[in-house]
Amino acid sequence: MLTQHRVVLGNSQQMPEIPDESIHLMITSPPYPMIRMWDSLFEREYPEIAMLWRTLKENPEEKAVTDLYETIHENLEKTWRETYRVLVDGGIACINIGDATRTINGRFRLFPNHSQIIERCMKIGFTSLPYILWKKPTTKPTYKGKGAFLGSGFLPPNAYVTLDCEFILIFRKGDLRFFPKHDKLRYESAITKKQRDHWFTQIWTIRGASQKHSLLERRTAAFPEEIVERLVRMFSVRDDTILDPFVGSGTTIKMAMRAKRNSISYEIDPTMLPLIEKGLNEEPEEHALTITRR
Ligand SMILES: C[S@@+](CC[C@H](N)C(=O)[O-])C[C@H]1O[C@@H](n2cnc3c(N)ncnc32)[C@H](O)[C@@H]1O
Repeated sequence: MLTQHRVVLGNSQQMPEIPDESIHLMITSPPYPMIRMWDSLFEREYPEIAMLWRTLKENPEEKAVTDLYETIHENLEKTWRETYRVLVDGGIACINIGDATRTINGRFRLFPNHSQIIERCMKIGFTSLPYILWKKPTTKPTYKGKGAFLGSGFLPPNAYVTLDCEFILIFRKGDLRFFPKHDKLRYESAITKKQRDHWFTQIWTIRGASQKHSLLERRTAAFPEEIVERLVRMFSVRDDTILDPFVGSGTTIKMAMRAKRNSISYEIDPTMLPLIEKGLNEEPEEHALTITRR
């Protein structure tokens, strides 16, 4: 069966290409607030964020840190709001996010991105569901914000717990999705008992995606295919349409293709297009791909 996939090169804070209530599942991983690798993107795209960084550098006060952190999340919230509009009743949104640790104004601290997103999505109207903790076996312990314990990390009380989990937050819009009795596509999309027992648990131990290729590939911070494959099969049925508003290298599109779902995705950085196309050209499933430049 031919599935349809559309990539829009543009900002997902507005998704006029998507009609209301037409998406069944959203899976995404946004740029993580307060993680250094995404600072330049937020500064480049949003003058108010660039200005808040300047204010913080010139006048390092705690209020400036809070203003910056909140403004970055306000910014992402626009995409969560658009997602709410386009999801069908009963549609699910899965957001992969990591918290950030960083030393600012001389103080090492946690920026709990997951809690900002949960609070904001609940205010939008989403129902918050039990989330998944993605445990990455590769991360090293942390001491004073650095990647590994120093010798004195053995002495209480000044070491920090390692951030070795990311979150996969799960939300639903409205009521449970309705299906007619014995719906054919739903039954054809069933997962096995083994998959159900394994996937519907709260901790998933999965290695990060291999990003050993180009600088561009490393820059995307792609999530592992296995995570997306599971989410696609847990929360959508064949022929559904899946949205990724921060598509990066295109992992969500690939997994939608493999599971015979349609997709629409957004990417603000047009230099990602060759990487997306390269990945999709290697997919053997029959599909139709449309690229739209805003
Ligand atoms: C963490 S990466 C996504 C990686 C992706 N999950 C993958 O497997 O490759 C976030 C992506 O979102 C893009 N992005 C950031 N803000 C955006 C926006 N407002 N609209 C569309 N894309 C955006 C970035 O350019 C980046 O490629």
